[in-house]
Amino acid sequence: MMTYNFDTPIERRGTGSSKWSKYSADVLPMWVADMDFAAAPEIIEAIVERLEHPILGYGVARDQLRAQIVADLARIYQWIIQPEDIVFLPGVEPGFNMAIKAMLEPGDTLAIQSPIYRPILKAPDHWNLRRIDINASDLSKDDLQKLAASRAFLLCNPHNPTGKVYTPEELHDIAAATEGRVIISDEIHCDLLFDSNVHTPIASLSSDVAWRTITLMSAAKTYNIPGLKTAFAIIQNPEIRDRFAASRLGMVDSVNVLGLEATLAAFSRAESWKRDLLDYLQANRDYLVDTISARFPSIKMKKPQATFLAWLDCSELNLPDPQQFFLDNAKVGLSAGHEFGEVYSKYVRLNFGCSRATLIEGLDRMEAAIASRLLEGTR
Ligand SMILES: Cc1ncc(COP(=O)(O)O)c(C=O)c1O
Repeated sequence: MMTYNFDTPIERRGTGSSKWSKYSADVLPMWVADMDFAAAPEIIEAIVERLEHPILGYGVARDQLRAQIVADLARIYQWIIQPEDIVFLPGVEPGFNMAIKAMLEPGDTLAIQSPIYRPILKAPDHWNLRRIDINASDLSKDDLQKLAASRAFLLCNPHNPTGKVYTPEELHDIAAATEGRVIISDEIHCDLLFDSNVHTPIASLSSDVAWRTITLMSAAKTYNIPGLKTAFAIIQNPEIRDRFAASRLGMVDSVNVLGLEATLAAFSRAESWKRDLLDYLQANRDYLVDTISARFPSIKMKKPQATFLAWLDCSELNLPDPQQFFLDNAKVGLSAGHEFGEVYSKYVRLNFGCSRATLIEGLDRMEAAIASRLLEGTR
């Protein structure tokens, strides 16, 4: 039995939501990675409690928040860190750009996965780096050689957009191939796991890997509070931490006070909400996988092991631009595949972090759009 209700739709238009502002009112938005669910009541209560104090000056993470993160990492992953290893940030995206700025020089080679979340794809260009793509789904010998030839690796695990969770064996291979070099590990989706999948922070593999890794985490995705722009880096090597801090450069300043309160409430009080959310998302994922296989013979997908994102291969539909097709004909706003890598123009990413009714509606609309195109083709 679920305690929390994820079924009831909540009107988001008119709230300044980027997801719901992008397209016209007749479009169902299933693109940017936030969910259409109310935040846990425990989080809202914590924010309201904080607002009872009327001064919203610059914030600093309270010792209690650092202690909570230290205890959680030890309990969940047997990963032992110190409170001072945590650096709070206004987002994971600023975090990986800061890490690059701190640790690489223009002209260096940065390895990233392909396909990959757009801000990671764009990051090498921001810092005048050479980019090397490795296959996100299958780490071949060739990929490991590419890693060995790179100055650093920006890993995304669990992976956006495929929902893949890297196994300890794969992570050991990555650690071996990057020996002596920096790993920047975006683990923002680490709590959104399905079935019996287990997340392994790459820094937890060994003290050697921990010493050269910048790990980025946040409560934003799991607890659906990304608009509060609060995240943190875990950097156990003090020299790397100093370089990272220096790369704030006056641009990545202090963290949102409400975001810090919300993060503490998420980690300390919202465990049962998270469990219900994961059950709901997993059922949505299963509905999506079953529907695609039964009713969309021309679309291929792998079952996501994590995240609320699905990566749909629409190549067999023979459309010049599947995202535009579904936008124009189904009034469903998906993310375009080419945003995740130049060669993925025949893919779309679908966000299933929505009520089941919305998911059903979106898929029904997409099915009808394909059917009417087929019908037109036979005329
Ligand atoms: C893999 C990944 N990293 C980072 C982010 C963005 O994080 P933030 O809003 O904390 O910058 C996202 C959001 O979708 C993401 O999927």
